[in-house]
Amino acid sequence: CGIVGFIGNKNAKDIILNGLTKLEYRGYDSAGMSLYNTRYQIFDIYKDVGRVQHLIDSAKNSALSNIGIGHTRWATHGKVNKENSHPHYSQSRRFIIVHNGVIENYQALKSQYLKYSNFTSDTDTEVIAQLIETFSETLHVDNAILTTLKLLKGSYALLILDSQDPEKVYAAKYKSPLLIGKSDEGITIASDLMALVGYSDTYYPLEDKTFVVASRDDVRVFNLNHELIQPNFKKIELDHADTEKGVYAHYMLKEINEQPAVVRRILTNYYDTETSRIPKSLISAIQQSDRIYILAAGTSMHAGLIGKNLFEKITNIPTEVHIASEFAYQRPLLSKSPFFILVSQSGETADLRACLVELKTSNYQILTITNVPSSTLAREATFALEIHAGPEIAVASTKAYIAQIAILALLANSITESSIDMKKELSIVANAIENFLANESILTHVRNKLTKPNCFYIGRGLDYYTGLEASLKLKEISYIQTEGFAAGELKHGTIALIEEGTPVIALISDPKINHNTRSNLNEVSARGANTLHIVTSNCEEPEDEIILDTVHPLLTPMIMVVPTQLISYYAALERSHDIDKPRNLAKSVTVE
Ligand code: G6P
Repeated sequence: CGIVGFIGNKNAKDIILNGLTKLEYRGYDSAGMSLYNTRYQIFDIYKDVGRVQHLIDSAKNSALSNIGIGHTRWATHGKVNKENSHPHYSQSRRFIIVHNGVIENYQALKSQYLKYSNFTSDTDTEVIAQLIETFSETLHVDNAILTTLKLLKGSYALLILDSQDPEKVYAAKYKSPLLIGKSDEGITIASDLMALVGYSDTYYPLEDKTFVVASRDDVRVFNLNHELIQPNFKKIELDHADTEKGVYAHYMLKEINEQPAVVRRILTNYYDTETSRIPKSLISAIQQSDRIYILAAGTSMHAGLIGKNLFEKITNIPTEVHIASEFAYQRPLLSKSPFFILVSQSGETADLRACLVELKTSNYQILTITNVPSSTLAREATFALEIHAGPEIAVASTKAYIAQIAILALLANSITESSIDMKKELSIVANAIENFLANESILTHVRNKLTKPNCFYIGRGLDYYTGLEASLKLKEISYIQTEGFAAGELKHGTIALIEEGTPVIALISDPKINHNTRSNLNEVSARGANTLHIVTSNCEEPEDEIILDTVHPLLTPMIMVVPTQLISYYAALERSHDIDKPRNLAKSVTVE
């Protein structure tokens, strides 16, 4: 979920709605907002199932207000319906709140403190509003909120309005991200920096277990013992243009096309003439380790698999890749001197945060690789590297994946006296991606081949890893059931699913195993599969359809993945799906 609130001298509705539009990548099951109505001296509430655009339409005639809060939801507790949409309010409507996170003990709190309260939703959030109201009967509002916060187990980023004092917005944070933005015009508080751009000059990312009281021209931050904390505000460097679609029909297409520029930007940021700018302390921490553990989720996990190959081939340090949500609670036997690399586009994925918190208590050295330097993971790790992909807005990740691999490659290359000129090799990759994008005809292949409700990607070695990412991407936005398979393994069972016309897309970029994968292609073709070949020029055969430039063998996934991104894009376009906001997903999942 994404939240945004404003108090100051500007039109709160515009700031909240623009902010929510920017935060929609965090969830878009429903959207809502509360604005102060000066005439009736109450907070009006607008909320419904559907997108922020729906909220914009329904709040068209709202009264002008300088104070308000808003929310865009990714459902966790309770169905997607109007009742469960935020904002929620206490029984007398005195307190109105929006919440991102999960309150694990809400049932227990309900039966212990709120036996006689009436509830209008099934959400854990409403319990927070009711508790604050209950405690406010005997306590000052600050203390009523603080007492409530101390009872909550789980995670929260909260914005709270008090109808009896409409000159304040209260906020609190534990585990879920929340940032305060400041300008002469007022205070904006939101889940993400993107929602502050244009309205704030400076920002401050809140620490866990903090409580905020914002008024029109002042903001005070406290710990949960009500002691003041001095916030250290930093200048916002993001630009408006970075978050716009420009000439492209979808953010995903824009982001796919930005990939050559992203790789070049990484080179500019990480190379000082020929030497890399990776910190010496990070290099020596990795050199001293006997095993690297890469932890990540989703697409970032697939980038981690490519990273494993890079680290093992270049540095000789054994490297394992783990799914963060598994590692957090089912830790494998660790080596004597492990080094941890957490890879996350957003830097906010709760599954990774759970790993980070655990690993920190054991004093392990941790590097996070993220796209957001102000993110929780970037701030809390021992070391942080930025991938410089620029804001990635489409839910399906593309340019961040390429950027993560590039960073893992140049990091691995900095650990040893490597013979690879990584700067040169990465710029060759940038050119190869650009060449392909300039002449691609993927739409035709999609129309000819993806005619069934399922699909397989097959490949060996690095192409197998690319197949995993390619299949995730196709599932995410086209809803075609797709599996990425090790080409040699398909015949051991799954080949039973191949029927007349089943699409099988082969990825071939390694001359050593070119013919092995082609044998597997023959096996599926003999059983009716409709095949598509994506190959690099050093593996090319006359029957191949998509030929890509050959790049350094360790970097082939960076070029091989690009046609598969476009396959997903066009498959979703052909099916008239909402490409940038596929159903059921959220880009940044801040709950475990
Ligand atoms: C969500 C998104 C995926 C993403 C994953 C990890 O599930 O839908 O696209 O790959 O989170 O996100 P991160 O920000 O940690 O890379």
